[in-house]
Amino acid sequence: MSDSSRRDFLKTGLGVTAGGLLLPSLATATEASGDLGSYGSFLATQTPQPTPTQLAATRLREIAIPAAQQPAANVRATEDNILGPYHRPNAPLRAKITPPLEPGTVLLIKGRVWGMDTRRILANTVLDIWQADSRGRYDNDDRQNPPAANLFVNRARLLTDENGYYEYETIHPGAYQIGPNAWRPPHIHYWVRHTNYRALITQLYFRNDPHQRDDQFIRPSLIIDLREIRTQHGTYKTGVFDVVLAPRQ
Ligand SMILES: [Fe+2]
Repeated sequence: MSDSSRRDFLKTGLGVTAGGLLLPSLATATEASGDLGSYGSFLATQTPQPTPTQLAATRLREIAIPAAQQPAANVRATEDNILGPYHRPNAPLRAKITPPLEPGTVLLIKGRVWGMDTRRILANTVLDIWQADSRGRYDNDDRQNPPAANLFVNRARLLTDENGYYEYETIHPGAYQIGPNAWRPPHIHYWVRHTNYRALITQLYFRNDPHQRDDQFIRPSLIIDLREIRTQHGTYKTGVFDVVLAPRQ
């Protein structure tokens, strides 16, 4: 592709509008690079490389995927919760909810999606996630200044993998006031969809937030614990939110 057609291609690709995208006729298939090439000989001169098994073990330790234990036999479906007024459809598929450098305490939320009837994990479940920023603001809560149609801040969709597992990075959302004495405590919205199961609209909450006393919508089963993780680059918090879906009736 020439420089000018590549520029046009990139421009077209970045101007994302749902449904109307067409690959330019000058576009070529992305080139394959199936071997290490000269990088392979460079690697050979370095200190002994870990085997793929060692690498996989290290990676698993680093991301600490919770063990895939089946829920107990008397398992219940995750409770639903209000949709609220701020959902927007068609958020992009990505595993980071917030834009780069979004202020706030970094959170890593992970979990699995389960079928209540089979007690087995559900791969390819769509999780539609949206939340307020650290000051309790949504990207669409100012009707005078709605966000651009293709700009989704603090929203994303993601899919569970072949182990029913998901994880995403975000920031701790802030509380927001909805009445003279009514607050919504920090929460993250979920809309969970799987072909064979009833769609679930719910929210997760964080243990010991003072605004939980002033909220009529919170349900204790939806509160998770956060654990602080310290790394050489700083600290973040992590929590697990497993979801159990009821089958369609
Ligand atoms: Fe909300």
